[in-house]
Amino acid sequence: MLAQLVYCRPGFEGECAQELDALAADAGVPGYARAERGAGYAQFVLAEPAPFASSDDTFAWRRQVFARQSLAVIARLDALPRSDRLTPLLAALPDGFAVADAWVEPPETDEGKTLAAFCRSFGNALVQGLKKSGRMDKTSPLRLHAFFPTGEDCLVALADVRKSAPWPQGIPRLKFPKDAPSRSTLKLDEAFAVLLDERERERWLKPGMSAVDLGAAPGGWTWQLVHRGVHVTAIDNGPMDEALMSSGLVAHLREDGFRYAPKRTVDWMVCDMVEQPRRVAERMAQWLAEGFCRRTIFNLKLPMKKRYAEVQAAFDAMRRIAGDLDIRAKQLYHDREEITVFAQPR
Ligand SMILES: C[S@@+](CC[C@H](N)C(=O)[O-])C[C@H]1O[C@@H](n2cnc3c(N)ncnc32)[C@H](O)[C@@H]1O
Repeated sequence: MLAQLVYCRPGFEGECAQELDALAADAGVPGYARAERGAGYAQFVLAEPAPFASSDDTFAWRRQVFARQSLAVIARLDALPRSDRLTPLLAALPDGFAVADAWVEPPETDEGKTLAAFCRSFGNALVQGLKKSGRMDKTSPLRLHAFFPTGEDCLVALADVRKSAPWPQGIPRLKFPKDAPSRSTLKLDEAFAVLLDERERERWLKPGMSAVDLGAAPGGWTWQLVHRGVHVTAIDNGPMDEALMSSGLVAHLREDGFRYAPKRTVDWMVCDMVEQPRRVAERMAQWLAEGFCRRTIFNLKLPMKKRYAEVQAAFDAMRRIAGDLDIRAKQLYHDREEITVFAQPR
């Protein structure tokens, strides 16, 4: 492996580089992070090439807030001929290994969008080429990624299927539910998909459970909970969607979300209030410390500068207030200048 490659929202490459540097420093991996603003990806270049080991979790996707995908680069191909990009790519693969799948991906930039059709057709050709050369095996734990920052340059990378994002470009394609009251409904849907695993979704999102939604109006997040049969207390001075209220599962209270506390422990507290990240994080931690909720998902709106440091400071503040926490955080595809955080006591 030559480098670790991460995909991100364009504009957040610097934050990815800071995260990669911090993870590498923690694990004592020599090298340096490389990122170009607006490119939609960043890399940590290893000082010395190392064998790819899928058991190595140093740069695991789940550990990174700003990475949509995290992959081990095994070859760099520059100036590929447009007439035949497949032969050099297949030739770059080491002998004696097979992959369960192969994805050809562009960055999520304007240039990347112009490569979408090529990536689709080349993806089919790559899979056929791998099959013909006996390198496809559905039981393999590995997935091959051919990442094209331009039409001629390719980073060839590997990922462990179980430890990487299971969506091309790291983007879950979610359908907007037509009766949901706001677009931000997709944020909570995506948060459930990205921050929880399948077993957790089954155990923690059951009909009859209870939730509080702080800053709920008009009700996009509440809709996701109601859709799963969860009873919601919606806190907001603004109006809630009428159709959602007629579900019978929502109680709307016009109160201050920073002061409200439930009488009994609820299964979930979710929060989408637009406020200083530190203030939100501290209030969320108080809920966990006081036992007002079992677990929480909330958004932290990030300032333009020092976003990485702001996130670290928010997590530190939460742990000071609530002790040892299981904190999982991502900048989701549906998040703009913000991240989404899951937290529960350990
Ligand atoms: C981004 S919107 C929430 C959108 C909602 N999650 C949805 O999916 O429809 C933020 C909401 O937080 C509410 N809000 C902001 N500060 C609040 C506070 N201190 N107490 C209660 N609600 C607050 C605003 O009234 C606004 O409706």
